[in-house]
Amino acid sequence: NPEVDQPENDKVRSLAQHMEDSTGELMNTNTGVRVNDDQNSLKAGDRGASLLEDFILREKITHFDHERIPERVVHARGSGAHGVFKLYEPLAQYTKAQFLNDASIETPVFVRFSTVAGSRGSTDLARDVRGFAVKFYTQEGNFDLVGNNMPVFFIQDAIKFPDLVHAVKPEPDNEIPQAASAHDTFWDFISVMPESAHMIMWLMSDRAIPRSYRMMEGFGVHTFRLINAEGVSHFIKFHWKPLLGVHSVAWDEAQNISGKDPDFHRRDLWDAIERGNFPEWELGLQIVPEEDEFKFEFDLLDPTKIIPEELVPVVRIGKMTLNRNPENFFAETEQSAFHIGHVVPGIDFTNDPLLQGRLFSYTDTQLIRLGGPNFQEIPINRPIVPVHNNQRDGYMRQTINRGKVSYGPNSLGDNYPLQAKASEGGFTSYPERIDARKIRARSKSFLDHFSQAKLFFNSQSDPEKNHIIEAFSFELGKVQSNDVRRRMLGILSMVDKSLAAAVAFALRLSVPEDPELPMNRSIPADADPADYDPII
Ligand code: HEM
Repeated sequence: NPEVDQPENDKVRSLAQHMEDSTGELMNTNTGVRVNDDQNSLKAGDRGASLLEDFILREKITHFDHERIPERVVHARGSGAHGVFKLYEPLAQYTKAQFLNDASIETPVFVRFSTVAGSRGSTDLARDVRGFAVKFYTQEGNFDLVGNNMPVFFIQDAIKFPDLVHAVKPEPDNEIPQAASAHDTFWDFISVMPESAHMIMWLMSDRAIPRSYRMMEGFGVHTFRLINAEGVSHFIKFHWKPLLGVHSVAWDEAQNISGKDPDFHRRDLWDAIERGNFPEWELGLQIVPEEDEFKFEFDLLDPTKIIPEELVPVVRIGKMTLNRNPENFFAETEQSAFHIGHVVPGIDFTNDPLLQGRLFSYTDTQLIRLGGPNFQEIPINRPIVPVHNNQRDGYMRQTINRGKVSYGPNSLGDNYPLQAKASEGGFTSYPERIDARKIRARSKSFLDHFSQAKLFFNSQSDPEKNHIIEAFSFELGKVQSNDVRRRMLGILSMVDKSLAAAVAFALRLSVPEDPELPMNRSIPADADPADYDPII
């Protein structure tokens, strides 16, 4: 029993109709037939044989045989909680999204925190990025802010994501190591992917071993757009700032905790909510007017870059409180389907090529993970507003759509036309002007991989710098290939000479004089050399 009241909200109330409580009830089969004995199978005689006729045995075992669904292809290990988001001040100047315009609304949220690399049963304390996915159940539909606890990413283009994940996951021959980055394939990939230099600095820092989910920042990573009622667009970055502050553990502590309690973060979140220590985050925005798009030394579309807060401060616009634990891990946390493409009117995308690829990937993977096209009907994923459209049927369809017309345009159905004018509040994509030629390459504005890696290292205190040196030394110390280690030392020397020298000392290697950087093979023959740099 929880020690305190855990508040309900519209989403939590909507889940009640799907709940079941067997306390004090007699048992039934799934077809509702009363069961007297589910501990003895039906036999011919008291020593068998068992009879195929036994539908009670068959149903019990069949259901059990089908209990597992695939774990998420990444972010498999996670923990969820319900809560609410409350806006401080209306943001009409920037967005028409209703939940960001009315400070009296409490928007229900469901949040899932996760690690990236490990499987469902892996330790919470791995050195890894943490997922920070928030589903806002707004009156205009679901908005998902699917972020991480680090503000940048390893790669600039989603087409590299399968490579990154194949490199970071356990190696395919022996499925080693589980939930750790210290292995050959990961460092091999990083050593030939200089665009990962900034992210790898974050990953080797204390940020990669948080003390608690409650003490992590969250970031939307990509630059998004907010659109106001007049159609004016601003670029924005999303931030979550934990009111408990940002705290980490030391590497030795992390290893100790992993041995003693691999569920440490899951337990910490659950217990805090049970006791009424509801964790809170403020939602912050960095806002950039459209005319300032090219004012920075980096490209706003490059997900390996932050916008330094000295240049654009974070404005805190509201507060999220997690105040209720799920009733059922599988039904809520495991079946939740977050997607960066779930946006509401007033929030829109940019052309960040990592973001654009994510827009394809999430629904695609959820179609297989959650068993077909009707996974939005699973209780945790349903919006709190009704759904009306012409989509029908498919595996596991729950909705009973009335009427004979499921197409448009039509003249037979009085429930159609469903088409509304844009002025009636539906989603309209920002009409960004694009005048370009198709090209399989990337802009020169994406090619500075080291300035912000250096900026990050220099922002660290001396003890934090030492932790980074120790982390590189430990991780690269596990790598078998000296070529990979040397290439990594070359990359580190581009970030900071003292960092590279300290790690080289620990590895008993020397820092290469002239770091080897791999060639970018993706520049087309007819590209204008002035626009592209041959080095990635
Ligand atoms: C899952 C964040 C890049 C594909 C997740 C989750 C988070 C996340 C938080 C866990 C969602 C949950 O709790 O259910 C991010 C961030 C990225 C990024 C912040 C970069 C900025 C990508 C890219 C792709 C991708 C580039 C593919 C092109 C996936 C997939 C899942 C996932 C397939 C599993 C979803 C599911 O099974 O429900 N990501 N991701 N992610 N991500 Fe990403």
